[in-house]
Order: sequence, then C-alpha cells, then structure tokens
Amino acid sequence: MLNKIENLKNELSALNVSGMNEVEELRIKYLSKKGIIGKFFDEFKTIPPEQKRAIGAALNELKQFATDKINSLKESFESGDNDAHGLDLTLPGEPLSIGTRHPLSIVRKEIIDIFSRLGFVVLEGPEIEDDWHVFSALNFPPEHPARDMQDTFFIEKNPDVLLRTHTSSVQVRVMEKEQPPIRAIFPGRVFRNEAISARAHCIFHQVEGLYVDENVSFADMKQTLLYFAREMFGEKSEIRLRPSYFPFTEPSAEMDVSCSICSGKGCNVCKYTGWLEILGCGMVDPNVLDFCNIDNKKYTGFAFGMGIERITMLKYGVKDLRLFFENDVRFLKQFHSAF
Ligand code: PHE
Repeated sequence: MLNKIENLKNELSALNVSGMNEVEELRIKYLSKKGIIGKFFDEFKTIPPEQKRAIGAALNELKQFATDKINSLKESFESGDNDAHGLDLTLPGEPLSIGTRHPLSIVRKEIIDIFSRLGFVVLEGPEIEDDWHVFSALNFPPEHPARDMQDTFFIEKNPDVLLRTHTSSVQVRVMEKEQPPIRAIFPGRVFRNEAISARAHCIFHQVEGLYVDENVSFADMKQTLLYFAREMFGEKSEIRLRPSYFPFTEPSAEMDVSCSICSGKGCNVCKYTGWLEILGCGMVDPNVLDFCNIDNKKYTGFAFGMGIERITMLKYGVKDLRLFFENDVRFLKQFHSAF
C-alpha cells in the first residue's frame, strides 16, 4: 500500500495541464468521493490494525499533496502565468499612442502668436449675446438688409437674446470698457443658421482684431495684415485688398493672399486666380466709436476678422470643413504642433 501511495504521489507531481477544464477533470479523477484517493481510503479499512497508523498518516499526506497540487494548477490559470508560455517576454511593449492637438487649435495658437508679436492682447467675450453687441452698436440699422448677411440663431423667441454670428461683438464690449489705446484680438466660436456643407457649418471659429488709437491709418492696417500673411503663409506671400462692405467699417475691404500652393501661378485650390480670400477688414466706422463712447474726432482704428477653419483649410489643403467636427482620429493625428 505504501508503494502505491508513493507512485501516485510521483504521478501527481508530474501533472501538467493546458486549461481550466482539465484542472477540474483532474480534481474529479483524484479527489472526488469515487476518485482514486477515495478508493485508497476504502482499501484502508481492510488493512491489518498494526499497519493502520503508518498508512493512515501516509494517506492523509497524499490527500493534502493532491489538494495543493490541484489548487496551484488552478491558480496558475487565474493569475495568467500560463499565458506567458510561448511568448517572447524580451520584446518591447506596445507603444502608448499619445494624442495630438486639433488642427483648429494649432492654427488658432499660430494666429495668436503672430499678433502677440505685434503687441495685440487676447480677449474673449460671451457666445450668447444681445442685439446691441452683435448688431446695433456695430452700426447695423434696424430692419436693414445688412442684418440678413448673417443668419442668426435666436434664443427662446426673444429677438434680443441670440448666439453671436461674429466675434465683432467682443470689440464692442472692449471699447465700452476701455479707452484707447486698444490693441487686441478676440478668438472664439460663432454661430450661423446655415446648411452644413463642405464649405459652411452652423458653428465655426473666428479671430477678430482691433486697433484703436490716435492716428491709426489704413496704411497701418495694410502693413499689419501683410506681416500676418507672411508669417502665416510664407515670407514670399503678397496681399491684395478689394473694396467690400461691412456696416461697422468704412472703408471696408476683403483681403486676399497669394496662393501659397502654386505661388500665384494658378491651381485648383485658388481656382486658377492665384489668390485666396482670407479675411474681411476696414477702418472702424466713426459711428461705432461713438456708440461705444470713444471720441471719434480724436481716435481712429482698424478691425479685421477671419475664419480659423478657412485659414486651416488653405494652409493644410483640407477640402471639406466637416472633417474638423467629426473628430475621426485618422484625420486629426495628421497634424503636428510644437506646443
Ligand atoms: N465680422 C465680419 C464677419 O464676420 C468680419 C470683419 C471683422 C470684417 C472686422 C471687418 C472688420 O464676416
């Protein structure tokens, strides 16, 4: 009997398994009531009394050994130890994928950096506005068709509460609070009731700029915007100003930059004109200064406003504006920034 016990112990020591199911099969085979060790205990009843002491001790020890063995096999699966079999643990780990800045954030930061170098500070205003700051103080007369230039989202049927259609509302807020010299840019989200397409969205981002002081001239504006264009699109860039209309600037202009993709020769991005329209600008209308309690005999100023989406599309050759809002990481991770 002692021999049989010793043999079984050796058999148990050598056991190895490849799955949890097998561990359970082994438990039944060795440790259940009708299992091999159970049969040994049945046999124990028939052995002569003088041998009982030694064999009893050996049997108990065998049972404990089998229990420990089965438990340790079970644990090896629970802790995943066996998963390591066949793996090369010296291989490098999976790289962590780190995020990237959103292209609009990259370009927004670039615009801010360029104007900061000229002494412009960054200011912000509310997205939910009133008629005064978005239209009236900006010289949009009541019932004037100029109000239709920007289709507005109104809030709760109250025509005095609306989502700002441009960041020009912030220039009003700043001029109401501060006296010149004022030199600031206002980045922010704006909202227009427009159908979403490859070229338009109901939410987009603008940066507005304002400079008000004594003797600020149209030439100052032109030079400031030329500096911006060259910093943004390359030092060979040229600009041109075309006469335009905004209620809050007089004279007003639309600014084009020479196409950086074909260097002005003509390509499908600039529609073979060599020029890309990038912003609206003009001298602040004296009425607007007056509405904001700034002495329009003493001070003059210029303002400009641009869409961040548009600048980003032109800079990176993005053809569909909707890509900026879909947040598909395959698109977003193509843009790299140093900040
Ligand atoms: N607010 C104008 C727009 O949204 C842009 C602009 C700003 C034009 C400042 C002139 C001066 O289209």
